[in-house]
Amino acid sequence: MNFIGSHILSVSQFKRADIETVFNVADQMIPYANRERVTRVLEGAILGNMFFEPSTRTRVSFGCAWNLLGGEVRETSEVKASSIVKGESFYDTARVLSGYSDAIVMRHQVEGSVDEFATASRVPVINGGDGSNEHPSQALLDLYTIKKEMEGRGKQVDGLRIALIGDLRYGRAVHSLCRLLCLYDDIHFSLVSPPELKLPSIYLDEMKSHGHECLESAQLQSGIAHADILYVTRTQEERFPSKEEADKYKGLFRLNQTIYTENCEPNTVIMHPLPRDSRGDARELDDDLNENPNLAIFRQTDNGVVIRMALFALILNVADQVEKTARDVNWYTAGRFSSQ
Ligand code: CP
Repeated sequence: MNFIGSHILSVSQFKRADIETVFNVADQMIPYANRERVTRVLEGAILGNMFFEPSTRTRVSFGCAWNLLGGEVRETSEVKASSIVKGESFYDTARVLSGYSDAIVMRHQVEGSVDEFATASRVPVINGGDGSNEHPSQALLDLYTIKKEMEGRGKQVDGLRIALIGDLRYGRAVHSLCRLLCLYDDIHFSLVSPPELKLPSIYLDEMKSHGHECLESAQLQSGIAHADILYVTRTQEERFPSKEEADKYKGLFRLNQTIYTENCEPNTVIMHPLPRDSRGDARELDDDLNENPNLAIFRQTDNGVVIRMALFALILNVADQVEKTARDVNWYTAGRFSSQ
């Protein structure tokens, strides 16, 4: 694909070579994310960071990624803080905001809303999550993490055995990741969910049509037994008709250290798009796994910064100029970045 000036709305836009391009640029961004080097390549550029649905890591990491490239961020973090509550259309909002910004990231609870916004925007728009539909940058950072974790174990993404656990019906991160993995060879999917929260057939059919093995079950222990990666998800209660309906599914699949030790192969990687639901009735990923070295959840969140820097650098066509404006940092740094 031609990244320059493109919207990033769906993982369906990517071919395998495009993903390699993003990952190569992301690798180049590690010294900047790790506060070893500073670049000003986007000095003067403005990001419109428009989040009309709650977010911690997507909103902040997109903002940090832009700042780390030297740009400024303008943010809307609630629908009620925007004139959308006065009846303004996506068309008008996009026309206005794209006059103020060089790129826009948008999250909204309505499926397809970011596509609609992008058609009216005069600048590139990145989908930060639209309802239960897609979360492309999350899938890219997840796949980047999977690749690094597998390489660290002498394996590769082709031939991957991945167990996806929890609310597979409403989880947009799962939907985008399944689609992205279709670009690789010989993937073995173990899909563990309550029957009512199974992966929608649109994704399952696509995975099967690419020749991947897809085993569905409602049994956590057997579902995680032969996996390289466990990808745990929370019940997406905001997508359910009521909280009472969502509560029926909380706590059905709880991964903890005992279940992991008794059922998983050594060095099985544990991932979660986060947030994990740490409330007592949920706890799908127990805190007692926090010191498990195979828990990759915070390596995922760190990887989100370099992946999002790479997307900005590619769509604004500055990937090969980053180093020209760079210098070493002159403050104390903790060397915090943890890609693998
Ligand atoms: N993974 C993810 O989308 O997290 P946030 O909702 O905090 O952005």
